[in-house]
Amino acid sequence: MALLPILVYPDPRLHTVARPVQAVDDRIRQLASDMLETMYDSKGVGLAATQVDVHEQVIVMDTSEEHDHPMVLINPRIVWMSDEHIIWEEGCLSVPGIYDKVERAAAVRVQALDEQGQLREIEANELTAVCIQHEMDHLKGKVFVEYLSMLKRGRIKTKMLKAQREAQS
Ligand code: NI
Repeated sequence: MALLPILVYPDPRLHTVARPVQAVDDRIRQLASDMLETMYDSKGVGLAATQVDVHEQVIVMDTSEEHDHPMVLINPRIVWMSDEHIIWEEGCLSVPGIYDKVERAAAVRVQALDEQGQLREIEANELTAVCIQHEMDHLKGKVFVEYLSMLKRGRIKTKMLKAQREAQS
């Protein structure tokens, strides 16, 4: 088990497009387990491999109230999205301290491999649906602040860079 360093926006590596996992083996299981440990340690509800600078399609999540339902989604694919939309105030471990509203599908059905390599289908709504879409965006190289206005995004970028400079000095 190990805590993994999380890339912070606007790190350009966050815009890398992840490739599909070729084989769900011990390396991938170790990655998923380390990602879960990192996510729980940072009090997050989801983490994509992109955020720990591994550019393969692996997502971990836990949207349960007790934080006792870890989920691992490998090579996830959305097979259905509701027409109904939902607006949620999102945050991201790669954009610490920033929360803003994003509109997404209210419900989704996703197919993904689990950590045993079994194909699973999950139907999710509300926070879990939002989280799946947010994490799948990471695998495409997209960070949630890209849904916000250019003005807001510019301010966030400046704030993040300033915080990073202060942390280094
Ligand atoms: Ni995120």
